[in-house]
Amino acid sequence: MNLIRPLYTAALILALAMMGRAPSAAAQFGPPPVAHEPHPRTTADTIAQGKQQFEGTCANCHGIDGSGATGPNLHEAARRLGPEGLFQTVHNGISGSGMPAFGQLSDQKIWQIVDYVSSFGHSAEELVSGDPQKGKAVYESSGCATCHIIDGKGGDSGPELSKIGPLRGADFLRSVLLDPGTNVPIDAAGLQERSQYPAYTMYRVVMNDGKELMGMRVNEDSFTIQLKDAQGRLHSVQIHNVQKIEPVPGKSFMPSYKGKLTSDQLNDLVSYLAGLGGAQ
Ligand code: HEC
Ligand code: HEC
Repeated sequence: MNLIRPLYTAALILALAMMGRAPSAAAQFGPPPVAHEPHPRTTADTIAQGKQQFEGTCANCHGIDGSGATGPNLHEAARRLGPEGLFQTVHNGISGSGMPAFGQLSDQKIWQIVDYVSSFGHSAEELVSGDPQKGKAVYESSGCATCHIIDGKGGDSGPELSKIGPLRGADFLRSVLLDPGTNVPIDAAGLQERSQYPAYTMYRVVMNDGKELMGMRVNEDSFTIQLKDAQGRLHSVQIHNVQKIEPVPGKSFMPSYKGKLTSDQLNDLVSYLAGLGGAQ
């Protein structure tokens, strides 16, 4: 007894000490992403199949139309998480919450559920009407490659798009093309909540003589700040000449294509982008 008690106390202290430590990556972010079959092309049929799955499996917690019951409303989930994030959430569940894991479902069934959840607030036609081949032509004729890389070709003022399909939902892609800068991506993996992504956040620099410069802040030392402008040129400004420097949320180098593309061209372009990096 006298021997066991100090051992027990030591174990308890050790356990308490471990609880106080920073949580491990796994505890913080949940289980690692699972590998899976690529996202098949969304069709009216996959959405209909997903609706059936959803009604049988998810509706008792999330409501028959996804508007929420004991579980949260899912109408904005696709926009925030993207298809990949939805897949992972359904497959792994959310540990420590009431959201169970559905890893026993086939990849195909999970993708159908993802298609249905992504369709909330949209007509099926809107999601699937685009022609990716035509969309590729729209991409090529709209100057997108000045700033974006797909399969090794293009400029790097904006994020690479080669694998954008699984990361962002159709709804999100559409909103970036119409209102760039409102949802600046935070990370390449796209699984975290979006806020400001420092690499693409715009800054306004006002010099002592009143001149202004806008750009992405790429580097800084004690004496200078380097900004990259829309053409990818670097500008170095002396800090002692700077009156103020401030982020400009909602602003982006990416031009809005609102009114510049017909709704058919927009659908085609979204369908092309949604198919990059996995989907067919
Ligand atoms: C037993 C109840 C229950 C069932 C069944 C269930 N969920 Fe959930 N779900 C929840 C709860 C509770 C949460 C909130 C978890 C949290 O605290 O973050 C949630 C969260 C989610 C989220 C994250 C929402 C967000 O905005 O981050 C998604 C996506 C989701 N569920 C989809 C589904 C789908 C799809 C199904 C069916 C395959 C399903 N859920 C089945 C209870 C459930
Ligand atoms: C002058 C440069 C520029 C041009 C031209 C441009 N973009 Fe962008 N694009 C950006 C920048 C910078 C961002 C990141 C900031 C943001 O989201 O506003 C971005 C973001 C995006 C995103 C979101 C990426 C993500 O990871 O979420 C998509 C999709 C996109 N652009 C597609 C296009 C398409 C398609 C075209 C042509 C029709 C185009 N862009 C033209 C600069 C550009």
